[in-house]
Amino acid sequence: MTDNSRLIVALDLKVPDKAMELAREIHREIFAIKINWPLLMVAGVGIIRELSSYGRVICDLKIADIPNTNSLITSNVKENGGWGIITHAFTGSDSLAAVIEAAGEMKVFAVVSMSHPGSDQFINSVSMDLLEMAMKEKISGVIAPGNDLVMLRRIRNAGKGLMILSPGIGVQGGNPADAIRNGSDYVIAGRSIYNSEDPLGEVRRINSAVSSVIHRS
Ligand code: C5P
Repeated sequence: MTDNSRLIVALDLKVPDKAMELAREIHREIFAIKINWPLLMVAGVGIIRELSSYGRVICDLKIADIPNTNSLITSNVKENGGWGIITHAFTGSDSLAAVIEAAGEMKVFAVVSMSHPGSDQFINSVSMDLLEMAMKEKISGVIAPGNDLVMLRRIRNAGKGLMILSPGIGVQGGNPADAIRNGSDYVIAGRSIYNSEDPLGEVRRINSAVSSVIHRS
């Protein structure tokens, strides 16, 4: 994996061999791989270590439980070689603190806003409160939507120094260059890459769109 890329690829595949094959194809040109329940449920926790042989793996488990359970889930990811973990923040500061403590050196990213239409019903109305609480708990970074640039800018302005990862790119309507221009540090793309006829070509297209913004600023 490379620090020259601002792209995190969501491998939401249900066939582990396909996920490994895609990782092999694209890993040299991306910043990290993100995995989620669809792959983890089929492949088992060992897939974290297997994918880690290609570099950084972020486990998007959107943890939302009591502190003890959060801690157990996080330590499983850590023991299996995860580089980062994504947790919900709405469960409160004690639950979030349990993730951060169990994570140790691992990066912890909190969901403070989401990118799908239903996120406007509940979570997006408390995004700033979630962000403030997560910062008090010394979070590494947050998830902020790459397809809602107003929300993204609000989170960027209030979350000085935080690493911002933005999904919502591609199929959900967001544009990678716009997301970076409006405050994202890394964009997350899944379907637009793994459903593409040419995943590596799509990775390169996103990398070059993003680097034109970075080099201009
Ligand atoms: O396929 P697509 O590019 O839409 O995938 C986006 C990925 O980011 C999925 O793994 C999804 O679960 C995740 N995600 C998201 N919105 C959030 C948090 C995570 O789309 N707020």
